[in-house]
Order: sequence, then C-alpha cells, then structure tokens
Amino acid sequence: MKRIAILTSGGDSPGMNAAIRAVVRTAIYDEKEIYGIRRGYAGMMDGDIFPMKAQDVSNIIQRGGTVLKTARCPEFMTVEGRRKAADQLRKLQIEGLVIVGGDGSFKGALALEKESGIPCIGLPGTIDRDIKGTETTIGFDTAVNTVVEAMDKIRDTAESHDRLFVVEVMGRDAGYIALHSGLACGAEDILIPETITHMEEVLCRIDYDERRKKTVHILVVAEGDDFGGAAEVQERIAERFPKLDVRSCVLGHIQRGGTPSCADRVLASRMGHAAVRGLSQGRRAEMVGLQQGEICYTPFEDVLSKEWFHREDMLEMIRVLSI
Ligand code: ADP
Ligand code: F6P
Repeated sequence: MKRIAILTSGGDSPGMNAAIRAVVRTAIYDEKEIYGIRRGYAGMMDGDIFPMKAQDVSNIIQRGGTVLKTARCPEFMTVEGRRKAADQLRKLQIEGLVIVGGDGSFKGALALEKESGIPCIGLPGTIDRDIKGTETTIGFDTAVNTVVEAMDKIRDTAESHDRLFVVEVMGRDAGYIALHSGLACGAEDILIPETITHMEEVLCRIDYDERRKKTVHILVVAEGDDFGGAAEVQERIAERFPKLDVRSCVLGHIQRGGTPSCADRVLASRMGHAAVRGLSQGRRAEMVGLQQGEICYTPFEDVLSKEWFHREDMLEMIRVLSI
C-alpha cells in the first residue's frame, strides 16, 4: 500500500490533531504518500483531498479541534453518495483510508469498504467514550477534565450560597462523562441515559439530605437522560422544594474544545501510529483500540453491535461516597 488518506468525521474531540500528526508522520516514515481529506465524508465526495508533508502537521499536537475540519454528511448514507466518494479516491489512486470519528463514522467506513473494496481502518475519536472494543476514546480524558474544572468552580459558589446545583454534561446516549466527572467532583447524584431515572427516588435523596442539613447538593445529569436535561430536573426539584435555592448550568460545547490532555495526546499518537502499521499488515474494516493498556484491533462489525452499558455499580458507589 503506497498511498493512503486520512479524515476526521462526526463530532470533533480534543486529540484528533495528535492522531492526524501520528498518521501523517508514520506514513511518511514508512515511505507512503499521505493525503488529507477536509470536512470528513463531505470533503471526500467533493474531492477536497490534498497531499500532506511532515511539516503540515507541525505545531498541532497541542491544539484542540481538527485541522482537517469535520462534518456530518447525510448524502454519504446513500449508495450513490458513497460511490461518488469512492470515485474521488480512485481518481487519486488512494489505496487505504484512516477514519477518526465515532460509531456513525465507522458505519460509513464499513459500507464504503464493502461497496468499493478500499481498505478502511478507524480510530475512536469522541468525547462520549461510548465505543465498544476500546477502554477509552480520543478526547474523553480532556473533556472530563474540563467538566471537573467547571464543576469545582460551581461547587465554590454553591457552597457560599447553600445552593443545590443541577449540572448538565454531554452524552446523548452515554453517561460516561457524567459518571466520571460526578465521581471526581463528589456529586451527590448522577442521572444517565443507561438507567431509568426514577425522579421520586432522586427527590427522596434530596429530602433526606435536607433533613440532615447537608447544605450543598450537586446533581449531574447527562443530556440524554430519559427524564430530561438540567432545566427539567431543576423545575421538578423547585416544584417539590419551594424553599430550596436551586440553580442549573449547562456546560455544552466547551466540553468538546480545548488543549488535549497529555493522556489524549499519548493515546491519539499510539493509535495513529498503529492505524498506519495495521493497514500495512493488511488489516481492514477494523478499529484501533486500547485494551488493558495495549493496542488492539476490533472488526467494525463488532464495534457497531450496540451494547447496553450497566453502570449501577458506579452509581451506587457515588451515592455511598457522598454521604
Ligand atoms: P460520529 O461518527 O461521531 O458517531 P455521526 O453519527 O454524525 O458521528 O456520523 C458521522 C457521519 O458518518 C455521518 O454524517 C454520515 O456521513 C456517516 N454515517 C453515519 N451513519 C452512517 C450509516 N449508517 N451509513 C453510512 N454512513 C453513515
Ligand atoms: O461528540 C458527541 C456529542 O458530544 C454528544 O454527546 C452530543 O449530543 C453531540 O456530540 C452534540 O454534537 P453537535 O452539537 O455537533 O450536534
């Protein structure tokens, strides 16, 4: 395989640039030609593809976002759209593809590979950490540290005013950011999409804390929780406890940006290097992951078979630790 290309797709995550750098430099070291594709699958369809040199990825390892830009591209979900994209790759004689993104991007890569025969290898780039076949994903560590920093600040003001705060974090389908940041910040309760939220039980716990004069209460809710987001939770609490001073805060997209942490830079570099070496070894339709600290490869088909994460053990521990 002499000529490969790289793209970033779906929601961006801190560390994507470190992954791009690792892929570009490993490919060049291994005497391959490497092309960058701008704006994910949208750019691939438009032929927004350009050759990259080692210097093109200088000074990006510490930057958040993605220098290749990213996009969501509904047209790529059609056979016609993918045919258009594959034609662009063939025109440039690109023989392999590295995709940095989430499970949606891997679905696209799997379909592209099946239809065009162009080998694809994926790197898990998402702050949500909701991908099978890897212990963690590029961007999770940075995002969760951003949340921890924000939550510590919220606790300062909550403490001063004896307030109850509802903090909404990202996670449309997954509660990992909520669980990890909540545990790290000593939150009193965590509401996540993987478990059904029984609001009566949440209100009982608040009532219990009130009666024993616990003055600060931080409740973390993942945006995809079945009960709703911070606004709905705040409203229900205020309705039940009119004397309580309740505030809410939605952290939003600040969780997706910023300087990647050391852990994310190291992870992205290892995975980017492994992606190029994997393609050279004939690997295809696989995602690079980390298991017990070691690089591994998992077929896209397995990564995409959705599994429901049960986090009752962690939720219970968080409640024990916040007594
Ligand atoms: P993520 O990769 O972060 O999960 P998305 O779910 O938005 O983000 O997917 C990114 C892109 O991958 C989509 O805009 C689309 O172009 C492509 N994609 C997603 N799902 C499919 C699918 N089932 N078939 C083909 N392409 C898909
Ligand atoms: O990156 C994943 C994620 O952060 C989800 O948790 C969230 O729902 C989604 O992206 C929002 O992304 P966007 O605003 O780009 O649609």
